[in-house]
Amino acid sequence: MRLRSRDILLTAAVAAPAMLFTFSRMTAQAPRTPAQRPSWTVGSQGPLPEHAKFTPQQAENGGALFIQNCAFCHGKDAGGGETGPDLTRSKLVTGDKNGEAIGAVIRNGRLDKGMPRFSLSDTEILNLVAFIHAQQDASLSQSGNRRGVDESDLHTGNAEAGKKYFEGPGGCTQCHSATGDLAGIASKFSGLRLEMQMLYPRDAKTKATVKTKSGQTFTGTVEYEDEFTLGIRDSSGIYRSWPMTAITAKLDKPVEAHVTAMSKYTDDDIHNVLAYIQTLK
Ligand code: HEC
Ligand code: HEC
Repeated sequence: MRLRSRDILLTAAVAAPAMLFTFSRMTAQAPRTPAQRPSWTVGSQGPLPEHAKFTPQQAENGGALFIQNCAFCHGKDAGGGETGPDLTRSKLVTGDKNGEAIGAVIRNGRLDKGMPRFSLSDTEILNLVAFIHAQQDASLSQSGNRRGVDESDLHTGNAEAGKKYFEGPGGCTQCHSATGDLAGIASKFSGLRLEMQMLYPRDAKTKATVKTKSGQTFTGTVEYEDEFTLGIRDSSGIYRSWPMTAITAKLDKPVEAHVTAMSKYTDDDIHNVLAYIQTLK
């Protein structure tokens, strides 16, 4: 069943009349509460997060769906409301490339946290994803009215605690070493760019093994990927692409575990780890 605002209003009316007031007020003006915004996310410096290219039509259709289903919690522009966080500053949205992370939240909800579950078609979900990414890109590229962390936010962490976290509960050493691959990372990137790189490493390559219907096999790194098309470049530099329907593909995305993990850390963990990473000059 598709959850519409009316259903929520009805539920809310039965459950708690006070909430009905809140919801209708939000529908009217979608106010923002700064306290609800995550205290850190990517800033507007540096390049925008990478994600699949969506058509303006997808974003437009998604905008209509968003107004219908999501806006009374997340605000009309996805900038946050009283009962839903600002999606333009969401780490999860930043890490999402093609709807895999956003789609999962929409389909499963987070019922214990007040995010309902929606049954929408794949196309509808992709349209919503297109809209949310477009809103985030627009918000991150706004100059003057800069949103996202301040440079000074980057110095609030505790490097010692960050080191402990890195080596312990953060599980970072499963894949990284401060004296190996991350040695000198703070000389390569600084400030918000470093944070961004930690949050969403841009250059990480996905490897693909593609099998065509006629039984040929190709391997390479993924250069283009959306719902319908996969394009890879092989080791000799040749680019090939196929409609998804013509192939079976096995993708190896080493960075996925990293991005998934990043969205689970608390703000404190992130600040501390960032403070630690900043010492790796
Ligand atoms: C009844 C209010 C409500 C509605 C309606 C709602 N959300 Fe949410 N949503 C939330 C809350 C609350 C959270 C935060 C959950 C948490 O703290 O983990 C959330 C979280 C999310 C997140 C994850 C953000 C992050 O950084 O973890 C996404 C993405 C999202 N919502 C998208 C949507 C979309 C798309 C719709 C419409 C199809 C929608 N939401 C409708 C309340 C709502
Ligand atoms: C499951 C493996 C895995 C885990 C766990 C993991 N990462 Fe990563 N991380 C990666 C991969 C893969 C990349 C991309 C590497 C590349 O492009 O060279 C990456 C990239 C990075 C980068 C950017 C490196 C660069 O050179 O641009 C930073 C910083 C980073 N991770 C920090 C962390 C921290 C801090 C943690 C723990 C809180 C963590 N990672 C946990 C796999 C992981």
